[in-house]
Amino acid sequence: MNRGRRLRSSANLRGLVRERRVSKDSLIYPLFFQDGENIMEEISSMQGQYRYSVDRISDAIDPALKVGVNKFILFGIPAEKDAAGSQAYAEEGIVQRALRAIKKAYGDQVYLITDVCMCEYTSHGHCGILKGNMVDNDATLPYLARIAISHVEAGADMIAPSDMMDGRIDAIREALDKKGYTNIPIMSYSAKYASSFYGPFRDAADSAPSFGDRKSYQMDYHNLREAVREASYDEEEGADIIMVKPAMSYLDVLREIRVSTELPIAAYSVSGEYSMIKAASKLGYIDEYQMMCETAISIFRAGADILITYYAKELANAIDRGDIG
Ligand code: PBG
Repeated sequence: MNRGRRLRSSANLRGLVRERRVSKDSLIYPLFFQDGENIMEEISSMQGQYRYSVDRISDAIDPALKVGVNKFILFGIPAEKDAAGSQAYAEEGIVQRALRAIKKAYGDQVYLITDVCMCEYTSHGHCGILKGNMVDNDATLPYLARIAISHVEAGADMIAPSDMMDGRIDAIREALDKKGYTNIPIMSYSAKYASSFYGPFRDAADSAPSFGDRKSYQMDYHNLREAVREASYDEEEGADIIMVKPAMSYLDVLREIRVSTELPIAAYSVSGEYSMIKAASKLGYIDEYQMMCETAISIFRAGADILITYYAKELANAIDRGDIG
């Protein structure tokens, strides 16, 4: 008897019967921009990732294009923050300037997605407008719509709201359509958990809340059905792509949403997932390259169509080498 095992007997055969194939086309690389000049500063908690000033866009974009990664999600770290997060929608805001500069230099060679949220821009570090100590969901919606429009006007190809306010997809879709941006897709951070995996990002983006936490608007990690519900609300409101975040500890959520929607699904392998692999490999406890490949494929295998990852360039190399793909 040689059932199954026969199919593993040679590399050619393993290639023939591989169940999940991945491509560079499905990778999105996050980039951080900040004010200032000639800055390319390594993020201490995310080795190998940098904050760039707008004049250094080529240092951010060229190495990715060289290995075949041309989709980016942009984050901004503004010089000034206020209670309303006004730099998030300012015409001369950091993301808006980065968008214009990148589009001017690269045009359609690149595909630019923007994270729509307020936490990097508010003095209190929460993802919306506060009423007392709570985020006021409905008061936040017009701000999110305004941020989204300002991103599109500056050149964004896709909008990715990550704030987790109820009704935001509806509000953003309506605002975009009204302005004639009917062809701009929305990738919704639908199932976004209140997670300690975002720790290194909050260092990078200087966006840790100044008091409390995000548990009143991000999801409780005990819950799975709630994620399915959130995804279906977003779908009804007009989301084009559903995102699950984080990825690694939430593969069951990915799987569950995979069977409940026909929309494409993106997984965000967040800063903590990246930094854990980096740190453990630095200590010599694990093999970084192997771990990166295995974890990325596990996310695709669970049902993701799209992977947002700080390892995008290295994964593209691994695809070129034939180690994954
Ligand atoms: C903004 C946002 C966060 C991340 C993406 N968009 C931080 C947060 O919600 O606290 C995290 C990304 C990462 O950890 O890599 N709301």
